[in-house]
Amino acid sequence: MRRFWIWAAAAAAFAFAPVAASAQQPIIIKFSHVVADATPKGQAAIKFKEVAEQLLPGKVKVEVYPNSQLFGDAKEVEALLLGDVHFIAPSLSKFEKFTKVLQVYDLPFLFADMQAVDKFQDGKVGQDMLKSMEKKGLLGLNYWHNGLKQLSANKPLLAPEDAKGVKFRVQSSDVLVSQFQAVNANPQKLAFSEVYQALQTGAVDGQENTWSNAYSQKYQEVQSDFTESNHGLLDYMVVTNAKWWNGLSPEIREGLTKAMKEATAVNNKVADDLNKEAKGKIAASKAKIHQLTPEQRKKWQQAMEPVWKKFEKEIGPDVIDAAQKVGNSS
Ligand code: LMR
Repeated sequence: MRRFWIWAAAAAAFAFAPVAASAQQPIIIKFSHVVADATPKGQAAIKFKEVAEQLLPGKVKVEVYPNSQLFGDAKEVEALLLGDVHFIAPSLSKFEKFTKVLQVYDLPFLFADMQAVDKFQDGKVGQDMLKSMEKKGLLGLNYWHNGLKQLSANKPLLAPEDAKGVKFRVQSSDVLVSQFQAVNANPQKLAFSEVYQALQTGAVDGQENTWSNAYSQKYQEVQSDFTESNHGLLDYMVVTNAKWWNGLSPEIREGLTKAMKEATAVNNKVADDLNKEAKGKIAASKAKIHQLTPEQRKKWQQAMEPVWKKFEKEIGPDVIDAAQKVGNSS
């Protein structure tokens, strides 16, 4: 009998030892994203790690995985819902499966500049959108900016007719598909990590993205012509697993919220500079950058206008109205 108790005590000590030890271990927090470090999102994710670890020393360890290293476009939301990562920041175009309201951000020529985007996101409609996927397990914490998108191909795109028959890579968004169909192009949904190779092999002929994404992915090596069209927005929502987040202690949640706030400020501060810098580097490469005259830009806008009507019901006319009110008012 005595032997049994000795054995039971040893077994209990063994069983509880890891639990006791792990109580002192920091919580490992994984932040996965698909872009390079030298982009607004890349910089902000690094800032989040620094501030979170500084505010919660020994309590959290944040691991940042850039460049689709851990999960690419197709898998990152699923991984978040399964608890394999804790933060992701997909572009707003990639939430279509979860909510339709965010499609408003993909409407072409809606926001004139990033001040207009800020106004919309700071308002009630924009803030409510952060919670629009909560029932599906995704909680939006903040918006992070990248900037306005530009077009590229292996020929100048100056008039909407120039896009006819061009195979454009688009993110997984039906609005973006319709946008290119409106100018008789052939849009193809493709994960971000596959774009360079698709452009290189000719699987697609063109793409739309911000300067910083284009330059950091070296699109200037495989695209001869860029057009400064500013025709659409690339913006992100930092999302976490709602259940995981609500299960954190108030102290950890508060620290992470503060870190996220600082990271957001850094993101939005560097976004514009990184895009300008990347544009300069593309201009200095062998690729050409074309400017549109106001008349040419108007023609693209008119050609893409039917997309608004097509998605009005899905997105909600009130949401489009609210965005439009601030969209061009800055
Ligand atoms: C894209 O797929 O083009 C972008 O959403 C990538 C990113 O996260 O900026």
